[in-house]
Amino acid sequence: MNYFITGVTGTVVPIIVEDLLRKDADSFFYFAIRGDAKGNGIQERFDAVLKSLDIKPAMKARLAERSKLVEIDVEKENMGIDPDMYAELIARIDKILHGAADVRFDQSYEKIKISNVIFTIEIYNLFRKIKERRRVAGAFAPTLYYISTGYAYGIYKTPIPEDYPQFHPGKPDNTYAQTKAEAKSFLLDKVRMFDDRIVIFEPTIIGGSSRTGRTKTYNLHYIVMMLGYLGKLPFLTAPDNRPDIVPVDWVAAVISDIMAKDAYHQGAIRLSIGDRGAPIQHLYEVGYEYYTANDPVPGHVIPKIRFVPRWFFFSMILMLKIWYQSVYFVTRARRYRKLRKGISLLEGYFPYITENKVFENAKSMALIEKYTDCGPAPALHEIRDAAGNIVEKGYYRKTMAATLETGWGGLVDFERLAKGQTSEKSPAAAYGVSRK
Ligand SMILES: NC(=O)c1ccc[n+]([C@@H]2O[C@H](COP(=O)([O-])OP(=O)(O)OC[C@H]3O[C@@H](n4cnc5c(N)ncnc54)[C@H](OP(=O)(O)O)[C@@H]3O)[C@@H](O)[C@H]2O)c1
Repeated sequence: MNYFITGVTGTVVPIIVEDLLRKDADSFFYFAIRGDAKGNGIQERFDAVLKSLDIKPAMKARLAERSKLVEIDVEKENMGIDPDMYAELIARIDKILHGAADVRFDQSYEKIKISNVIFTIEIYNLFRKIKERRRVAGAFAPTLYYISTGYAYGIYKTPIPEDYPQFHPGKPDNTYAQTKAEAKSFLLDKVRMFDDRIVIFEPTIIGGSSRTGRTKTYNLHYIVMMLGYLGKLPFLTAPDNRPDIVPVDWVAAVISDIMAKDAYHQGAIRLSIGDRGAPIQHLYEVGYEYYTANDPVPGHVIPKIRFVPRWFFFSMILMLKIWYQSVYFVTRARRYRKLRKGISLLEGYFPYITENKVFENAKSMALIEKYTDCGPAPALHEIRDAAGNIVEKGYYRKTMAATLETGWGGLVDFERLAKGQTSEKSPAAAYGVSRK
């Protein structure tokens, strides 16, 4: 199969590509890439991705041989793709995986709409041209696989339904959720109008690999864990919430199976832990014990977090913001402005941590069972039977080990922490990661 793939420089898509390489012996990839802000061109960026892949050198060489890079700029006509290359894509592509998105929670609607909505419309336009060409040629219809998010449903008082082909999102939590919802609605309209082969994946929170514990991006729950470790999170709320976290290797295994097996071509599959998630209080207790027992910094004391009612927690956050803002006005020290901004960024995570969202997943689990070789998502925590015996081993410890091995992907400097200096690379680094 010939695949056109977006998002390969991100966290999730490279793992799907690793799997597709293994599962589809005849795979050929066209990767849509843009240059980055540091001046790296598309070849350099792809080489860096290739280097980071967790596959044998021979497989890396095979991937390099069996791929072409496509420079894109989504703000230009036909995504700025060179006309000859655009024609080649229309002639050759069997399947599109659209995994690219701007996953930051603090962007303006106008800005994030370009990456999350306009980009999806452009991808659909390419898909439509491929479909037409293949129809004329009498070839099988192409499929567009789109990675949405369970959080596109926004604020929901009830468990979030698996309502495909309907979709009635609640008020969005942020512009990310809003634009992901718009893109999903756009594609669902196309399914209804043209019976297009479009598969929508709806992961919840994607965490590190259940096999290795590693992740490419330390954000969201990792930041909460890091703040806890550094003693910068004296309070937390919602101890009974069960954040819906699924490991990236499982997400990639399901998506790549659906794509490579080529038997499921239209619908939505939610990738969720469902009702098997662990409460925050439990994750905190296991985490506290682990970080205390394995702390690489001698003498570092990890303060305990107190769980407080929501109103208290949110009042504290508000007061802290006002305090940093006021100190900034008086001192003009940029550190305080950054800290104030950091708190706002942290607030972006609250819908995922402090709000109780429950994702129904029974229909999707039946699809996963029927169309893939995957079982249910591995749970982060250990699952025990009524007698207290572990019936499913969790991967939480591997996840925590990876945070200590890498210093949360370089966010924490243990040497500085040992010397009693501020441990983050920049004053606001602890809060300043807004990416999911
Ligand atoms: N991670 C999660 O917890 C999670 C959960 C549910 C759903 N999802 C969905 O899964 C997908 C992958 O997420 P991720 O965590 O891997 O995100 P990520 O690490 O932030 O990667 C995003 C990818 O999209 C590309 N991209 C974004 N805007 C672009 C643009 N305008 N033009 C070209 N490329 C653009 C990025 O390219 P650059 O490197 O050039 O910026 C990068 O390759 C997304 O659709 C996301 O909504 C993620």
